[in-house]
Amino acid sequence: MAVQRKSGNKKKSVDDKELNIDSNKKYDGTNEKNFESLSSKIPWRKIVTRFLLSLLMIFAVYWTSKKEDFHVFASQKDRIQLTSAQVSCSSAYKKDISKFKDCVPKHCGRLVTDIVVTPEEAAHLLRVSKKGLAFGGSSGGASILDLHSGALSYDNSFINIYEKIKAHGTNKVFTPEDFKVYSNVRNKIQQIISYNFGIPINKLFLTHPTFFSEMTPRIAKTKHDEYWHVHVDKETYPSFHYTSLLYLTDYGIDFTGGRFIFVNEGKNMTVEPRVGRVSAFTSGAENPHYVEQVSSGTRYALTVSFTCDKEFAIADPTMQKLQ
Ligand SMILES: *[C@@H]1O[C@H](CO)[C@@H](O)[C@H](O)[C@H]1NC(C)=O
Repeated sequence: MAVQRKSGNKKKSVDDKELNIDSNKKYDGTNEKNFESLSSKIPWRKIVTRFLLSLLMIFAVYWTSKKEDFHVFASQKDRIQLTSAQVSCSSAYKKDISKFKDCVPKHCGRLVTDIVVTPEEAAHLLRVSKKGLAFGGSSGGASILDLHSGALSYDNSFINIYEKIKAHGTNKVFTPEDFKVYSNVRNKIQQIISYNFGIPINKLFLTHPTFFSEMTPRIAKTKHDEYWHVHVDKETYPSFHYTSLLYLTDYGIDFTGGRFIFVNEGKNMTVEPRVGRVSAFTSGAENPHYVEQVSSGTRYALTVSFTCDKEFAIADPTMQKLQ
């Protein structure tokens, strides 16, 4: 039947052709009948089909290019129990971590979880961070507050917040509760890293720098303000083995831009900050990353770093710092 139809069409198109040739001969520009037959010569079906095909192709190219640019690993809108991705450890990381036998991860990679830190704990730490940052702040777009060393961005450099508070008078600014929440949270982050990478919890040690960060769209004044360059944590801080971030504000609500991006060959992976979200990863060259420039609002996060090398362990901060 299909063959029959095909031959029928062929016959018709031959007839059309003959008819058109015929009408072309007679066409003088005024005869309506001839005009109609000319217009029927315009291959509308072909034009429409080609137009639709082009649209489809443009869409396909757009779609695949968009998909290849980045993959949303963790959207702000989703409450994620635990999601993880494995990447092969860089050779330098493998070599370094092999010195700490029980600290070798079962695989290198990344994880995101929204259930480890509660919204109350995140809100508490946001208040702690704002209280501290009120004593200083960078003149450029990025400020840090390190409760361990006391380092606080101030204009184009750093001051010690504990010295500043002590000089300020009797108000100690931070409370025992602040330090308690801080320690609880960092212990919970240590637990999820230990669980995900398969390392005994007591083989991990908190290390320097562990700090709050505040990012704004202000123009960078020093290199400390330029957080948007792709980097490998272990190259900046050789003692790092596992890096984690706790987000204290929401992407798309409190600020725009400022997504965290893992740079991969082929497809980058983004983590959209969400209040209470923990993102953690092995600190080697298997996890190059950067933070997009914040385009509006203010982004707050806490970086919590771990080492397997006891020599680089740091203690949790306490009210002692203010004595
Ligand atoms: C991933 O991010 C890097 C750094 O911004 C960029 O150079 C690269 O083109 C991105 N890769 C893709 C596939 O978009």
